[in-house]
Amino acid sequence: MKEIIIINGPNLNLLGKREPLLYGSESFEGYFKKLQKEFSKAKLSYGQFNEEGKLVEAIQKAGENSDGIVLNPGAYTHTSIAIADAVAAIDIPVIEMHISKVELRESFRQNSYVSKYAVGRISGFGLDGYRMAVDQLLRS
Ligand code: DQA
Repeated sequence: MKEIIIINGPNLNLLGKREPLLYGSESFEGYFKKLQKEFSKAKLSYGQFNEEGKLVEAIQKAGENSDGIVLNPGAYTHTSIAIADAVAAIDIPVIEMHISKVELRESFRQNSYVSKYAVGRISGFGLDGYRMAVDQLLRS
């Protein structure tokens, strides 16, 4: 059974309440239960961290224990070389995931340190992007 972990970064614990026009009105916990049902043939797990170092640790650990990561680094996408280095350091595929279409947003969101090391990037499909990313990791 393949093990896929979803790792969410800062402020994504507020999904459902935070800027619903951008990020939707569904909590991640509720959505994750549906994902687990849909992908019952895989072992899905999920972690959310507001702190950069904790994200680095979660990525390193997943590199040893999992078969793939769906990573939404939140604002650290645009600022963190440490998270990009963690993605570069591991040997499992990582899909960079964004709920909103970051390409159409502020200029400070246009850089991603992570993209270079991710196998691909999904942005702009709302929470459904997580399903697309898990599906892709299970095919590869
Ligand atoms: C986000 C986009 C980031 O720019 C932002 O800082 C987030 C969420 C997204 O999922 O659309 O926290 O990663």
